[in-house]
Amino acid sequence: MSPLQIQAFDAPLGAEVIGLDLARPLADQAFVRIHRAHLDHHVLVFRDQRITPAQQIAFSRRFGPLQIHVLHQFQLAGFEEVLVVSNIKDEHGRPIGLGDAGVYWHSDLSYKAHPSLGSMLHAQELPETGGDTLFANMHMAWDTLPAPLRAATAGLKAEHTYLAKYAELQKRSPWRPDLSDEQKAQVRPVVHPVVRTHPETGRKALFVSEHFTTRLVGVPEDESAALLRELFAHSVRPEHLYRHAWQPHDMVFWDNRSLMHLAAGCPDDQRRKLYRTTIEGDVPY
Ligand code: OGA
Ligand code: MN
Repeated sequence: MSPLQIQAFDAPLGAEVIGLDLARPLADQAFVRIHRAHLDHHVLVFRDQRITPAQQIAFSRRFGPLQIHVLHQFQLAGFEEVLVVSNIKDEHGRPIGLGDAGVYWHSDLSYKAHPSLGSMLHAQELPETGGDTLFANMHMAWDTLPAPLRAATAGLKAEHTYLAKYAELQKRSPWRPDLSDEQKAQVRPVVHPVVRTHPETGRKALFVSEHFTTRLVGVPEDESAALLRELFAHSVRPEHLYRHAWQPHDMVFWDNRSLMHLAAGCPDDQRRKLYRTTIEGDVPY
């Protein structure tokens, strides 16, 4: 096999990893290169990976403990660490996966005390048209934030909650289950700094999202909503984005501490299925 290469995209983030078969054991030296590239580029794309769920889990675990999604209804059978992201319905008309995952900009599990370090998505079935995933560079968002907004934001904390848009999502996706009391207990609101420091690179990043951030702590409601709207709009300016067009068997690994992402969506009559693993991160500071 050719030697490992990291080829940066012509985009504000992202790189392709060439010459690595994730079905084979990963040597420590290769792991170090992948880890470094992940910090440098925030999204890594591994093309044409013929790996099993167990292999995806094993590779994911190299980066930290895995998190289990609160919607256990959409775990892959036999693999609680794998969340099925899919719009496919089974023969009884029941969804086999979370069909509307990521329809608002977000960072995975920002609603937890320990949000995610990074997530991996492995493509299983892809639609003919659409189904792209967009990524926004939140370091860039912070670095380019106009001075008055920076001044208004620095030092603030924000509340994140899984339930922020849940009712709205249930309206568009009636199959979304009501949460049990046990599930609700797992997603109590949390508070995180609006500007976080990446624990491995020391770079600052905006850490608020349209999906999960509800309010700025200690800021009057109107002012909080207005400021959040400005931060969201600035974060996803086109010059901060990379758009991933999925190819068969792509494995994509992103950094939730540096990025937000969004599902662009695909026509309802086209099948899309991906397997997600989610790596636990630090408490943001
Ligand atoms: C996710 C997610 C986006 C997509 O799985 O975390 O947000 O395009 N997915 O499927
Ligand atoms: Mn997501």
